[in-house]
Amino acid sequence: TDIPSLKEVFTEFPLGVALSPESLYGERARLAAKHFNSVTPGNALKWDATEPREGAFQFTDADRIVQFAAENGMAVRGHTLVWHQQTPDWVFRDAAGDVMTPTPENKELLLSRLEAHIRGVAGRYGDDIGVWDVVNEVIDENQADGMRRSMWYQITGLDYIRTAFRVAHEVAPNARLFINDYNTNVPAKRDALFGLVSQLRSEGVPIHGVGHQMHVNVEWPSVAETEAMLQKFIPLGVEQQITELDVSIYTNSGESFPTPPADRLLAQAHKYREMFGLFTEYAEHITSVTVWGLDDDSTWLDGGSLGRDDAPMLFDDQLQAKSAYWAVVDPN
Ligand code: XIL
Repeated sequence: TDIPSLKEVFTEFPLGVALSPESLYGERARLAAKHFNSVTPGNALKWDATEPREGAFQFTDADRIVQFAAENGMAVRGHTLVWHQQTPDWVFRDAAGDVMTPTPENKELLLSRLEAHIRGVAGRYGDDIGVWDVVNEVIDENQADGMRRSMWYQITGLDYIRTAFRVAHEVAPNARLFINDYNTNVPAKRDALFGLVSQLRSEGVPIHGVGHQMHVNVEWPSVAETEAMLQKFIPLGVEQQITELDVSIYTNSGESFPTPPADRLLAQAHKYREMFGLFTEYAEHITSVTVWGLDDDSTWLDGGSLGRDDAPMLFDDQLQAKSAYWAVVDPN
């Protein structure tokens, strides 16, 4: 006997999974296709992957994932056109090869590179990618104006965001265009994001949705904080998606376990259950929920600077369904 398919049990909204090209084989491929309606390439569509040198586009990895999705009747979430990370160094260098300073010439150069990049990437996929994270992580709630002081912002102000959405909409007119960020449940960050989206939409910038990454842990955030996050954006009339859900077993940077303790795995199942319960309640406003990885062996939270293994996903290191999976499938 086989376990139930998540996407068949859970029909309130489409379910997605982030994948790398290495996960498109064998049991991982089978699990992904069985349980999920859509795929987000975890890295393959980022700038460093698609345009490592100016004008030299490469789509080998992204194409493999898009093709896998097509073969299995899955949609694709495009992630991401503009970010301050995983962006090659050349993007922010001026004509002389020096790191850009804020001048009108550099602003023009940077926006023209941005436009060419989005035409090259979003334009290439057209209707094969129905949703884009156009900009990622642009908010810094500790700044008075709420904007992250990335090179993008330092050189162009808000214009990089306006340009990115305008060009994405032009080359992919049927795609739903998102602004994506983490910790959107934190009130100051949520409010800064809300302010930005309201302003840009009132200017006519084609932003269709807000993406909540939701990299959370077994204790944080609470259902109430997460509910306030969802409620905040309803009056704007935008779509909302959960774009990168995972539930870490660690609650602080000092923790490290040789193997995931049973009580943490139960707390994790509880957190997954309450989050999916909340999303179900708000299903009218949520147009998809994506988990940031398939299993505990391939999660981005393994290793890293803290050198510890995490276990944040629905399937374990051996690709077996965890308590977290059962809590989502059978919440009662
Ligand atoms: C992560 C990938 O999963 C890793 O493989 C990579 O090394 C770093 O980026 N927020 C995002 C994602 O928007 O793009 C990040 O993905 C995780 C945090």
